[in-house]
Amino acid sequence: MNHFSAIDVIRAKRDRATLTGEQIDWVVDAYTRGEVADEQMSALAMAILLNGMDSAETARWTRAMVDSGERLSLRADRPTVDKHSTGGVGDKITLPLAPLVAACGAAVPQLSGRGLGHTGGTLDKLESIPGWRARLSVEEIRAQLDSVGAVVCAATDGLAPADRKLYALRDVTGTVESVPLIASSIMSKKIAEGARALVLDVKVGSGAFMKNLDTATELAHSLVGIGVEHGLRTSAVLTDMSVPLGRAVGNAVEVAESVEVLRGGGPSDVVELTLSLAVEMLSLAGLSEVDPARVLASGEAYETWCRMIRAQGGDPDAPLPTADHVDMVLAPEDGTLTRLDAYAVGMAAWRLGAGRARKEDPVRHAAGVICLAKPGERVVKGQPLLELHAESPDVVPGALAALRGGITVSDSDTGRGALVLDVIHATTP
Ligand code: URA
Repeated sequence: MNHFSAIDVIRAKRDRATLTGEQIDWVVDAYTRGEVADEQMSALAMAILLNGMDSAETARWTRAMVDSGERLSLRADRPTVDKHSTGGVGDKITLPLAPLVAACGAAVPQLSGRGLGHTGGTLDKLESIPGWRARLSVEEIRAQLDSVGAVVCAATDGLAPADRKLYALRDVTGTVESVPLIASSIMSKKIAEGARALVLDVKVGSGAFMKNLDTATELAHSLVGIGVEHGLRTSAVLTDMSVPLGRAVGNAVEVAESVEVLRGGGPSDVVELTLSLAVEMLSLAGLSEVDPARVLASGEAYETWCRMIRAQGGDPDAPLPTADHVDMVLAPEDGTLTRLDAYAVGMAAWRLGAGRARKEDPVRHAAGVICLAKPGERVVKGQPLLELHAESPDVVPGALAALRGGITVSDSDTGRGALVLDVIHATTP
């Protein structure tokens, strides 16, 4: 293999050539081992972002990342189905969805990540529950899948190490927003985890990586294509991320909202998306006769949530952390709230302390934003629109600056558009 050189591979992609399978296998492996330097991989990632990779290159890149680590084969004695979101603002759907689908009879292994930038991470949210532990061994994951049916935990160290290294590099080199790099990153982890069926929630809009429907559709097709090629039953749901999902954006506040949904309440958009994704997951798991709305209403999903949290050392009844400082953003005039920009709210929550700038940074579990009004609602001048939760008042000016231009109150009647924009089903392998 040592007849390859990183410079040749970079030049080839810079000059718009198609990389050979051998070049891809070598560069991914050599980067994982440290033979290809970060600055060389940065240049290659930028060349890929600018010049793309075709579906055969993307499939080979994905396989090379899977082969950089171990395969987990997370199967249980019931049909296994997973869900992955490309990331958004207020996207706490995994929290109610995993126990709901488990209560419907499937096994749901959810190896999740932490937040970076303005999008939140599922593990950061769950870690606001006192005692809850994200890191489990493979044996613990398998045992919990059998006993509870749902596990949300950190990916094991051996899972797609090439992606872990490359994702951190892309994050600091402006090379995240590339369809082949996102698709191979997501799918390499799912294939290595050994999922049999997968529903992808591909977010579209200001609060997502994909800002418009065309690129999100391209990403969805790429993800589904890779899944099918690896024998995974895969479908993708394209959903709106121009407005935050639900009312809570942060960590503890999102856990509280998820528990409301599991107890039969909660914001209608969170309930709608949870049920839509549950229907897709149950269909892929061969359980389409089960009605998730009935199971949610019965309280069984909430019971499964409590067992899932306890199995990982958490206390589902313990009070969640609350903020020492709460500020309000008021409506500037009478009218209808026509715009509440997801990116602006995500950035505000991040500046309040809910997110991290570098992956080693801690998050403030109580920090975040509560959207007291959502697009389409009538408001009167001076009415509180947002609550800003923080540990101290000194982070509030940064959050207010992030919100500037992100909120519109006007005479128009425009509300929120459709939440589920499209569904792409794979042809079953
Ligand atoms: N999520 C991932 O896992 N990888 C990406 O590249 C983007 C979102």
